[in-house]
Amino acid sequence: MAIRYNSEKKLWVLETRNTAYSFGVYQSGMVKHTYWGKKLSRMEDYPGFDYYFDSPWWNWNDEFPTRGEASKTEPCLQLIYADGVRDVNLRYKTHEIEGEELRVSLNDELYNLEVVLVYKVFAEYDLFERSAYIVNRSDQDITVENFKSASFYLPQKDSYRLTHLNGMWAHETRITREKIEPGKRVLESREGRTSAFHNPFFAIDDRATEDAGDVWFGLLAWGGNWKTLLHKIPYETVQICTGMNDWDFTFTLKAGEEFQAPPVHCGYTSLGFGEMSRNLHRFQLEKIMPKEGALKIRKVLYNSWEATAFDVNEENQKRLADKASQIGCEIFVIDDGWFGQRSDDTAGLGDWYVNREKFPNGLEPLIDYVNTKGMDFGIWIEPEMVNTDSDLYRAHPDWVLQFPNRPRTECRNQLILNLAREDVKRYVFESVDRLLTDYNVKFIKWDMNRPVYESGWLESEDPRRMWTQSVENLYDIWKMLKEKHPDVILEACSSGGARVDTAIMRYADQFWTSDNTDPYDRQCIQEGFSLCYNTKMMMGWVTDWGGKDAYPLEYRFHASMMGSLGIGSDLSAYTEEELKKSAELISLYKMIRNTVQNGSVYRIISPYEEPFTIKEYLSEDENEVVLFCMKNPSPLSLFKILRVKFKALQEDAVYRIVGTELEFSGAFLMYRGLDINFMQDYKVSVKDNNHFDSKIILLNRL
Ligand code: GLA
Repeated sequence: MAIRYNSEKKLWVLETRNTAYSFGVYQSGMVKHTYWGKKLSRMEDYPGFDYYFDSPWWNWNDEFPTRGEASKTEPCLQLIYADGVRDVNLRYKTHEIEGEELRVSLNDELYNLEVVLVYKVFAEYDLFERSAYIVNRSDQDITVENFKSASFYLPQKDSYRLTHLNGMWAHETRITREKIEPGKRVLESREGRTSAFHNPFFAIDDRATEDAGDVWFGLLAWGGNWKTLLHKIPYETVQICTGMNDWDFTFTLKAGEEFQAPPVHCGYTSLGFGEMSRNLHRFQLEKIMPKEGALKIRKVLYNSWEATAFDVNEENQKRLADKASQIGCEIFVIDDGWFGQRSDDTAGLGDWYVNREKFPNGLEPLIDYVNTKGMDFGIWIEPEMVNTDSDLYRAHPDWVLQFPNRPRTECRNQLILNLAREDVKRYVFESVDRLLTDYNVKFIKWDMNRPVYESGWLESEDPRRMWTQSVENLYDIWKMLKEKHPDVILEACSSGGARVDTAIMRYADQFWTSDNTDPYDRQCIQEGFSLCYNTKMMMGWVTDWGGKDAYPLEYRFHASMMGSLGIGSDLSAYTEEELKKSAELISLYKMIRNTVQNGSVYRIISPYEEPFTIKEYLSEDENEVVLFCMKNPSPLSLFKILRVKFKALQEDAVYRIVGTELEFSGAFLMYRGLDINFMQDYKVSVKDNNHFDSKIILLNRL
């Protein structure tokens, strides 16, 4: 049983395969956290409150801290009651355990306010989910100023490190590791989207490595404004408080109304960052990603953006489709430029119907052509946006987010539709639904190319609800589209990877990882992505960034093959030789992709630490091992033989290197290691692109 209640100690214990989390009712009726770590062997071992110095109040470790009550913790809840009282006194009322779910109800009795803490245990992944909702059971309105999802505490210690993902456009999911010093540290988004600057993930470790050591971590499932706050007082515990951002958040919770905070998926492992990632990856694959498609193989995609940009027409797309099918692509995607009066980024967004000047016969002839070549057809859209030069804006200028008497920021010449409005929500859903109904479209790249600045919605009685309602409405639209068109692959893109999170993952089949498709830069972006997101979701295009000669073709492919593969190069500029080589690499990818997409990832050498990226993918049945070896520039690595120690093989099993007669035991591969011989050409000069080298080594268990 994953959830138990010890009525004597008034303690709840949530157990997973290897870990446990406990909290209980303190003498005051307040609910306090008591333990998060390795599973203990006896129920009676889980600490209750007899371990703590009993002062009249113990002002740390509130399971759901509120403003007030001499609390030293950062509050999850701040509000103003109708009479002006701002202190919230929550006390335990009741709880319910239903299978793997626990609901603990807390009450501020005098004001008839209920807060329900919800816990779901995913024992086999060593993870659990926390969320909360608030119910105003009184007959008076309440002003809510802050409502976070959860607060966590770590055992007292001064040496913790925080690992988080940050970056910017074209440099997303950069890993930063820093010592947690006394004070407060805030990671957040105020952009109305997940953001490329910070991602809602945290991991805190105690001298952990990739393969060993304590790591506590969490991923917030929310792609609107979010905030994670770390709070460290010397000699005291570390608190982590995460959820919707309280900045510009205040809204009215009417009598009888409920409000839901998004879930956080969290866990602990004693086996280092690698185990953390694998637990999150498998959980996402099996429990979060859309069921119909989660385990299905992602097809190799071609996108014509880098070849033709806005200048798309039936002829040039057909020509590219010929080349794409020749090299083995399975989806052909037409990007921006096919709709409205779109010839550049100044016009057309909002008008989701075919541009008849570019496609006089509509899209059907192109789609049929692509289909006869054996490929699915896909399309790019950016439905949350509008250009002022569009039929939509001319008809509904009031649909955009804006304040009267204030200038509006036009990023990339576009404004943002107020998706919190029901009529806008309907328009967006119907536009996309019509495309999917009228045309044989099997893939959508849904972009969102700017942050929210002027967030005005003054005609609403609760204008700040725009921040949360627009995000909930976006999720509703994706949900409805997925339900109605379950076989259509949805890709979440936001100026690259600014919408990578586990909330949109419930409906998205893959992410556009970054606009940066440089295979060298990508290794750091991908390493960060792999820390907490399943790499099957990680779309990687082979392109000609930096020019075709900047990197060897194989190196470009190998970097992109570590997730789901796409091609974005201008194939019309490829020689027959390059097309042939591309076709060979795509067929290699098809051979290994089941292991890459549905297997487990083991990071062996990080590009953050050495001039190499070495990653191992192990198939679910553990019979196939794919080793990616990327060598990057460094004077020391020019003629390098690198010994690579595999991970997670079976010691006494024998593995053969595919394409050779070489056989090794798992013990040899893991403890002695295999020598990877980079750079056969000793005439290489430092400026030569052969400075970049790569290999894929495929092993089969005999
Ligand atoms: C964004 C995307 C690109 C491309 C363009 C089209 O920048 O990230 O991949 O789709 O929009 O305008």
